[in-house]
Amino acid sequence: MADTTLSASEYTTDSLTAQRIVVLDFGSQYAQLIARRVREQNVYCQILRHDIAADRIAELNPKGIILSGGPSSVYVDGAPKCDPQLFELGIPVLGICYGMQLACAALGGKVDNTPSREYGRATCMIKNNETLFRDLEGEIEVWMSHGDQVSSISEVFEPLAQTSTCPYAAIAHRTLPIYGMQFHPEVTHTPQGGQILKNFVIDVCGCEGTWQLGDFAQAAIEHVRELVGDRRVICGLSGGVDSSVVAALLYKAIGPQLSCILIDNGLLRKDEQALVIREFGDHFKTDLHVVDAEERFMSTLEGISEPQEKRRRIGYAFIDCFKEEATKIKDAHFLAQGTLYPDVIESGADPDGPAATIKLHHNVGGLPEELGFELIEPLRDLFKDEVRRLGLELGLPESLVWRHPFPGPGLAVRCLGEVTREKLKVLREADSIVVEEIVNAGLYRETSQSFAVLLPVQSVGVMGDARTYDNAIAIRSVKTDDFMTADWSHLPYDLLARMSTRIINEVAGINRVCYDISSKPPATIEWE
Ligand code: XMP
Repeated sequence: MADTTLSASEYTTDSLTAQRIVVLDFGSQYAQLIARRVREQNVYCQILRHDIAADRIAELNPKGIILSGGPSSVYVDGAPKCDPQLFELGIPVLGICYGMQLACAALGGKVDNTPSREYGRATCMIKNNETLFRDLEGEIEVWMSHGDQVSSISEVFEPLAQTSTCPYAAIAHRTLPIYGMQFHPEVTHTPQGGQILKNFVIDVCGCEGTWQLGDFAQAAIEHVRELVGDRRVICGLSGGVDSSVVAALLYKAIGPQLSCILIDNGLLRKDEQALVIREFGDHFKTDLHVVDAEERFMSTLEGISEPQEKRRRIGYAFIDCFKEEATKIKDAHFLAQGTLYPDVIESGADPDGPAATIKLHHNVGGLPEELGFELIEPLRDLFKDEVRRLGLELGLPESLVWRHPFPGPGLAVRCLGEVTREKLKVLREADSIVVEEIVNAGLYRETSQSFAVLLPVQSVGVMGDARTYDNAIAIRSVKTDDFMTADWSHLPYDLLARMSTRIINEVAGINRVCYDISSKPPATIEWE
């Protein structure tokens, strides 16, 4: 679809994104987090390639530029650099960690490899609180993660803060609106980081907070209405947040011209099909096609235990089923998808954005262009938390908006090894106990994803007087903001005990329950 010259997609309007901050991504694991933190100030924030030309930045006309951190060292060959002209645009710049080192190196400072890498919490003493540290004083806790640090800032910069090992924890240029900080204000381990970013975005850059989701919803609804005219749109429903929000937005825009397709691949959680149908009926008075495709998915998965192959087969079967059902819907012209901003960034789909870094498997289940529909992707500018807030704006219930994510390949990636109907039945029961107990303990919102995994191992047990040789269930519960990193949830022992007792007593075929205490990285959230 035609894009505007600015790379914010057409679902936003100039008034929403006119005041934007751009983040140049130098390979930081936190680039998206920086953007989300900026958006928390109601300021539109876009992630760009680190080597984007200064002319292009000038065209985008941002109110401020943030240079992200990154794993490289500014003085090694091939280290990612920015166009040095950007320091001459007169636009405020904030360099974070590697970004600060880059700004210093470009403007006359000196960067050294410090003898002791600094990683973790540090106490930062504020020396000047006129700009970045406005409303803060004395000592604040910050999060450091670097090998190099700036050793000399020349006369052009002045120090704003220091730690015991880092004399230039934050600096400001004496004549230009250029700032740097060695620590990471975007992570929660820097408790005052939100205030520091706010000081930069609002005070230094002069943003006024024009990025409002209510306005976004209105603009997106109007855009969709205009684009679609009197034609028909198809939307795949999964019961997850993203597709529900897309459907809600389209329904508001075009009402009965929307047809939804729910494919039950036989890999859904307990009672999920019924739940989605009920929720759909409660919110949308429009066309719903439910495809019962369990047989098709089970036969394509027969004998397959390699995780990627399972994903691939599920992806193909999904496309086939969807295509078949879609061709039954007369005059369908558009296909609506719940693509989010992180998908756009990670797949390299934004011409101004960073190169692709995608974990490919997450895209399987997406629908190929050859289906012949024109795409509508109204969430492609939004982060997940914004999608949830948009869902609430659109009137979806909290229970749906806060539902834990569920992977496209469903229970197949939680039923390790070959997937069979019998194993799925066991897994479904155990999983529903895990979720029910988490809900009863009031911890559903506090955890980000909680579920059961059926392990392909058997172990010996004793039940009553009989020896058993049954399977084991692993309970997985994680807490995360972005699903790119995650901590295992520190669930109370009595809750774990209740889950274990119930699963072993109520689910035939299970005689052992384990709790997964791995964080991501190095583990992932799912087991396959
Ligand atoms: P991992 O396991 O990579 O998962 O730590 C991160 C998040 O992505 C979800 N996930 C998937 N979602 N298709 C999806 O739609 C997939 O193949 C897939 N694999 C993982 C996972 O549930 C978690 O929320």
